[in-house]
Amino acid sequence: MIGKAQGPPISITGLGCHVPDRVLTNDELSTIVETSDEWIMERTGIRERRIAAPEEALTDIALPAARAALAQAGVEPRDIDLLICATVTPDMMFPTASALLADELGAPRAAAYDLLAGCTGFVYALVQAYGMIAAGLSERALVIGGDILSRILDWSDRSTLILFGDGAGAVVLEKVDHGGFLGFELGADGGGGIHLSLPGSGSRRIEDASANGYVHMNGREVFKFATRVLVSSARAVLDECGVGVEDVDVYVPHQANVRIMDHAVQKLGIPRERMVVNVDRYGNTSSGSIPLALADAAADGRLTEGKLVLMTGMGAGLTWGSALLRWTEPKAA
Ligand code: COA
Repeated sequence: MIGKAQGPPISITGLGCHVPDRVLTNDELSTIVETSDEWIMERTGIRERRIAAPEEALTDIALPAARAALAQAGVEPRDIDLLICATVTPDMMFPTASALLADELGAPRAAAYDLLAGCTGFVYALVQAYGMIAAGLSERALVIGGDILSRILDWSDRSTLILFGDGAGAVVLEKVDHGGFLGFELGADGGGGIHLSLPGSGSRRIEDASANGYVHMNGREVFKFATRVLVSSARAVLDECGVGVEDVDVYVPHQANVRIMDHAVQKLGIPRERMVVNVDRYGNTSSGSIPLALADAAADGRLTEGKLVLMTGMGAGLTWGSALLRWTEPKAA
């Protein structure tokens, strides 16, 4: 799916994020599985990640992110009429994380549902919220992306354990006077889905009980896929919107692996300093990755009025998606 934004300008008017307190370093990981700080840094650029406490579930880390986004937008929870939570690690399949969050926030008017699109979930959810507002169905949407991937990892599998971390982010979407989203591109390839899967997590019975409930990944295949789609999806949305790559001020790729991101900037021809990188501190937080990176860019003063922001996510499904946005200063800033 690809499209240029039509109709009234719609933008992010509030942004918030939250990560668990517990920091897990590469050195500490090397006491759990056979690995080393040098290997992880060289192959991924990840130095440490956050891990949720045993008693924390997704809604516990998503709630502070949502509250921060609402506060920045100056929006009361009761005025939210759409709440989408992109996650592959809800507290449970039902009640959904979004229904629980709407209740905890005090948003009884909100249509609330979870969205499953792997690490691309946040971008998919942005597009849905945009579409609902553009169609006049929603006035104010809260889009949350977050995951507690540490809960679905096999802690004896070094190939996945080193990559992922826990975190959440949230944004408020509303109509604005100018700027906002310019266009989107979304895609999926279920044929490649086998390279990044969670066997035993649904109605498909799995014979090998030991494989159940943990992330399985063919790292080399996912690497090839990721390097390809980060470039093709970004080019597609830029072309669709008639925008040159040189106009991109802030590039926010999914934070999976610094080598994948470096490959993308080189191929696209985006100066590296325009790319937001925080994978070193958080690892791959799945649906939390792009909002956490946006929050870092905002904190660094890189997200100012009128800046052109390119976001591209990719992940399980396999899925990918890009959004192009002319940044508007949050109302309460
Ligand atoms: N620590 C130390 N050694 C490790 C290791 C670890 N954590 N994981 C694998 N190795 C070893 C392998 O066993 C292999 O050893 P061998 O050569 O003796 O067989 C060697 O390191 C190279 O393994 P390889 O899998 O080829 O490494 P790589 O350079 O492809 O890096 C990933 C592995 C997982 C970091 C990389 O493939 C990757 O990032 N893939 C994309 C994953 C991703 O982003 N997933 C989420 C998408 S949303």
